[in-house]
Amino acid sequence: MTRPLRAAVIGLGWAGSVHTRVLRSLDGVALVAVADIDPVRRAAFDGVQAVAGLEELLSLELDYCVVATPTAEHEQMGLALAAAGIHALIEKPLAASLPAAMRLVEAFDDAGLIGAVGHTERRNPAVRELGLRLRDGDFGAVYQVTTRRHSPFPDRIRDVGVVTDIAIHDVDLTMWLTGSHITSVVGNIGHVDGRVHEDLAVAVLRLSGGEIGNLQVSRISPYKERIVTAGTAQGWVMADALTRTLTHYAHGEPDVGSSVGRVTSHEVPGVEPYRSQHEAFRDALLGLPTDIVTLSEGAAAVAATEAILSAARTGTCVTPADHILARR
Ligand SMILES: NC(=O)c1ccc[n+]([C@@H]2O[C@H](COP(=O)([O-])OP(=O)(O)OC[C@H]3O[C@@H](n4cnc5c(N)ncnc54)[C@H](O)[C@@H]3O)[C@@H](O)[C@H]2O)c1
Repeated sequence: MTRPLRAAVIGLGWAGSVHTRVLRSLDGVALVAVADIDPVRRAAFDGVQAVAGLEELLSLELDYCVVATPTAEHEQMGLALAAAGIHALIEKPLAASLPAAMRLVEAFDDAGLIGAVGHTERRNPAVRELGLRLRDGDFGAVYQVTTRRHSPFPDRIRDVGVVTDIAIHDVDLTMWLTGSHITSVVGNIGHVDGRVHEDLAVAVLRLSGGEIGNLQVSRISPYKERIVTAGTAQGWVMADALTRTLTHYAHGEPDVGSSVGRVTSHEVPGVEPYRSQHEAFRDALLGLPTDIVTLSEGAAAVAATEAILSAARTGTCVTPADHILARR
């Protein structure tokens, strides 16, 4: 029998707590240690070695480490892990800027290590079924992806705006669902009560396969909404990530595209997104067939959100950095 993979988590806030809970019960993995600079956070984790920082984790013969510190720290954490020969699952956004994201891509590539990004929305059961069925061609050509993601303002202090924090899920999903990359964006952002970082955003996307997309996000809504819709040759297909429901509005016959046909809807069973993400990452380390969000894909999502912010601030149409497109 192969020995369990030795894993650790750094950053024990909301995301780190979920990673830790999942890793404590993941087959084939031993959670060896957790780390946080905050002693109060560390004290909340029983039954596992808790240390203050990355330096101490590096001496524990880890196979991999989950980075769940604030985004501004992802680069330094990831580079140190790559230098130490440790695989990493890094929370989204991959890094605070595109150049930082690219440095991580290169460091893991150069070291021959596996890096992945925590774009957990891909692992929501309804969204995942939509993605897998689009990939299998069940609905024919994909013409358009629209997403709506609204939330109340988070309790946790936010050092970034809603585009960097939330819309990054939608640009990643749009690229994943279409299998194309974003070639241009226009967008608008809004701020509430003079806050430094944006609270609302809309963007219109063009993709390399000719598809179009649009996203709406806010973090000042009284309700939560997580809707992803693909407009396809076989009708419109809507994934509701909150109810985990997939609904297919088929085109009417014979006037394809001009009327509503059969509407079918079902709940999609599945494991929680963080567990599914960890199973995929573990399997990647074991050399099994799986699908993780690569660091290049994470960097492409950072490029797209930077492009949205730039488009909104300048009132122009912006192309995400060319060197990202060339790498995909
Ligand atoms: N995938 C998702 O859907 C999802 C959801 C929430 C958060 N996230 C991401 O996870 C990351 C963390 O977010 P959060 O909401 O958990 O943040 P948080 O502020 O709740 O937690 C961050 C933790 O990191 C610790 N920390 C900071 N610097 C450190 C250092 N140098 N060494 C050790 N510990 C350090 C802090 O003390 C804190 O406990 C962010 O990148 C965020 O975007 C992803």
